[in-house]
Amino acid sequence: FTPKTLQGKRVLITAGPTFEPIDPVRGITNLSSGKMGYAIAQAAFEAGATVELISGPTALDTPYGCQRYQVQTAQQMHDAVFAHLTNQDIFIAVAAVADWHVSNASDQKLKKNHAGDLPQLSFAQNPDILAEVAASKHAPFCVGFAAESENLIEYGAQKRLKKNVPLLVGNIAQNTLGQDQNELLLFDAQGHTALAPSDKTSLARQLITEIAARL
Ligand code: C5P
Repeated sequence: FTPKTLQGKRVLITAGPTFEPIDPVRGITNLSSGKMGYAIAQAAFEAGATVELISGPTALDTPYGCQRYQVQTAQQMHDAVFAHLTNQDIFIAVAAVADWHVSNASDQKLKKNHAGDLPQLSFAQNPDILAEVAASKHAPFCVGFAAESENLIEYGAQKRLKKNVPLLVGNIAQNTLGQDQNELLLFDAQGHTALAPSDKTSLARQLITEIAARL
């Protein structure tokens, strides 16, 4: 039995990695599986919310009851988020969004040549989706994630302030990407608290309860 703590609420979630093309058959991505974001989407639906999930490429099924929109690049994720932002109550940015895209991606497959010339990739910065949503007019309640490999307590608190969000969820990104177990710390204006270490389904439910209590 799940308490309907988000009954009547609208929740927008990003999840998964992004994929930034180099050419039509190659690209740059990361190890995010999407499991945490999908588990949060499922938990929000169970709690009574209407859930829209903007997802990068993953191997996961659409969480039951949720509406999923699939994207590849950070720019597409940004555009899909803003296309669905009106009247959302909560925005949860779980996606591992690429910081950069290849600005000179090729329309044709890059070819090896006899001289052994190497491809020269150039990069351009991607939009910070969470920071933009948090700064937007009528911003929903925004929740960010921070995967850090060290100094989680210090970096988590800093990131919450930098992104200007009321709640930031930190996890130690060492052997957690793609795993079912996870450990989460919540940072808010009061400080930080830990969620009981558990599987992603249970953590997602705990997180939804914490978000509902802060609305
Ligand atoms: O700055 P950093 O990538 O560490 O911040 C992570 C948080 O910001 C996550 O919630 C992630 O989904 C969000 N983010 C975003 N757009 C970006 C980069 C990160 O929404 N371009």
